[in-house]
Amino acid sequence: MAFQKPPGTQDILPAAAGKWQYVEEKARDLCRRFNYRELRTPIFEATELFQRGVGETTDIVEKEMYTFTDRGNRSITLRPEGTAGTMRAYVENKLYGEPDIAKLYYIGPMFRYERQQAGRYRQFHQFGIEALGSDSPALDAEVIALAYTFYQEVGIKGVRVEINSVGTPAIRAAFRDELLGFLRPKRELLCKDCQSRMDRNPLRVLDCKVDQHHFEGAPSILDSLDDACREHFEQVQRSLEGMSIPFSINPRLVRGLDYYTHTAFEFKAEGIGAIDTIGGGGRYNGLVEDIGGPNQPGVGLAIGLERTVMLMQEQEEELAKRQRLDVYMVALGEQAEQHASGVLYALRQAGLSAERDYQSRKMKAQLKSADRLQASFTAILGEDELAKGEIVLKTMATGEQQTVPLTELAAVVQQLREQTLEGEV
Ligand code: HAM
Repeated sequence: MAFQKPPGTQDILPAAAGKWQYVEEKARDLCRRFNYRELRTPIFEATELFQRGVGETTDIVEKEMYTFTDRGNRSITLRPEGTAGTMRAYVENKLYGEPDIAKLYYIGPMFRYERQQAGRYRQFHQFGIEALGSDSPALDAEVIALAYTFYQEVGIKGVRVEINSVGTPAIRAAFRDELLGFLRPKRELLCKDCQSRMDRNPLRVLDCKVDQHHFEGAPSILDSLDDACREHFEQVQRSLEGMSIPFSINPRLVRGLDYYTHTAFEFKAEGIGAIDTIGGGGRYNGLVEDIGGPNQPGVGLAIGLERTVMLMQEQEEELAKRQRLDVYMVALGEQAEQHASGVLYALRQAGLSAERDYQSRKMKAQLKSADRLQASFTAILGEDELAKGEIVLKTMATGEQQTVPLTELAAVVQQLREQTLEGEV
């Protein structure tokens, strides 16, 4: 039997890879503009890092981690998210000792053993950012603004930003008791998930999609905030308004990870089956300390790239343009075929994308390849041209043809290419 990929994983085939590259380039460019710098951490870490960092009672740690014992008898886990590893690297490499705050980003695969559904994978990719060393509400707003701009620029329509404040751990503990007081009499009416969440993480009950009608009159965490938390949350909102980033407040928004304090937020969009969250994050002022580092506040977010790619629209034309080949070289006859590689190599060295036939096919079949690859130019090398040190160059858009000295081919193509690019503007 032929092998198949493991459930919940995907092959990103060449036809789709262009979209991924586009998204990743956008992410990197945005990070440059917002001054976030890349951090690459290992794909696996000590299991305990995630237990401490993500939280023992989260779904991720309880049910979803890919954990194994390595040959040195260590418990290792494939990273289910990027924040914990970033914190570990920040502490281990003492990045907190630098005069400026650390503004970091990462792009890469994450692993969660989740139930499969549209938009939910077991290996998926995140673009994440983390800003460490300041508790300024302006930084919470900056993180939200970066994600908002990302979705706008990759062309996702109808993105909604929901924000909430989940206060401090002490505020949450008090709110938890108040909420349980409200939920207990309704326990039997609630779904199985909610019942188990009541025991493990009651705040997440309010997030339930099916039981919302039972939550009318539920206490709101926003009413439990102290003055400092309220002030922080107000200022985040003022900063967002200052950047004209639209948002709504959702007092029931609770994230699936334990480390959040103050601001929590999610980005939502329609179009992927039952799933609507395309990115999320928040502030995590206690996390660095929880994993054994100094007391440094942080804020960050992660964007799911599978969900981003699924929702991208209107990029087809731009992507097709980027994938176009500059030159397809048609070689006719044995002599020409022998010379083809040298000519092709010169084009590639000059920075052009170029391809040739490797199957000794007839001219017609070679020209068809040029079409399929959307070559801007076809260069035809026959025995006669070769004898004269020349080549026929055809501009595909206009059908114009000219004979060019072989030594000047790259320069002529560059020149014509610039002219057509100018023409397109
Ligand atoms: P998260 O909400 O668990 O947060 O994941 C962030 C995003 O990753 C989700 O909104 C979704 O787009 C994507 N995602 C999560 N799980 C899957 C999956 N199984 N398949 C496909 N996409 C998925 C975090 O991971 C936090 N570390 C975010 C953060 C960074 N908070 C502060 N800093």
